[in-house]
Amino acid sequence: MARITMGVERFGTEASESEYRGLEAGDILYFPISPPLVTEQDRAFLVTQKQVDAPYHKNISYRPLEDRLKGVDQDDAAQWARMHEIMRSYSQRSVAFMAALLKRYAATWKIDFASFRPIEEDGRRVALHSRNDLLHFDSFPTRPSHGDRLLRLFTNIHPERPRTWITTDHFEALAGRFAERVGLYRQRGPLAVCQDWTVRAAAKLGLPVVARPPYDRFMLKIHHAMKEDVEFQATCRKDRWEFPAGSTWIVFTDSASHACLSGQYALEQTFIVRRSSLACPERAPIAILEKLAGYPLARTA
Ligand SMILES: [Fe+2]
Repeated sequence: MARITMGVERFGTEASESEYRGLEAGDILYFPISPPLVTEQDRAFLVTQKQVDAPYHKNISYRPLEDRLKGVDQDDAAQWARMHEIMRSYSQRSVAFMAALLKRYAATWKIDFASFRPIEEDGRRVALHSRNDLLHFDSFPTRPSHGDRLLRLFTNIHPERPRTWITTDHFEALAGRFAERVGLYRQRGPLAVCQDWTVRAAAKLGLPVVARPPYDRFMLKIHHAMKEDVEFQATCRKDRWEFPAGSTWIVFTDSASHACLSGQYALEQTFIVRRSSLACPERAPIAILEKLAGYPLARTA
């Protein structure tokens, strides 16, 4: 796993072919000095915010398409409005920055949620599958990607402390290890399609189900299987990365294994990148799983 360092001279420039390829394979694009995604005033406000460490609020989230803020404990209407304004502005700046850097994705990507993470990650108590400190690939339980990719931009806005990650191998190297365990070779095409239909029918009846294609079901199972695997977590090869205060990094979190060991106060914006816009569609997790399985795992091409 590599970290590709980019200087301030790269603000507003497009990634090179090799940077696109590295990113898609699971490398990290890293800006030691962050582009201006948040003003100093807004950053100072954010680091005074506290959030109750409750299981129902993993983070403060902002949904750009609905202009909606969630997970804020703040009762004060003026403070709440300020937080909303800051998250809206951060999200807009992030989208503009990423659209210049990763132009080939921007025409068709879907802008997903932004988040603010005010809780110290070290020692955080959450359920096993929600733990950030265990290595995993991302998969969103309530927002299936149908084979499109999860790209995330992070900024460490803590005034002093780094955000510390560990990573291990890319998805390509680990998929085979978990494929058998999550039933990839057992659920042949017709069964997978049948399950798809059942969920679709239930959704039509208004039942609270998420229509998730086989791809998203396997990705979620792999996410859970990795976190449950005590031996894997303890013995796998690890790289440790420190993202200093004021740095920004970009990573496809569905193919770059990652865990966050410590850090407080980070901002993040997610993008759903279409398969058709990738430089290397054959390295997307869906292509890797479909090759192993021998049958299609989602309808989108
Ligand atoms: Fe993650």
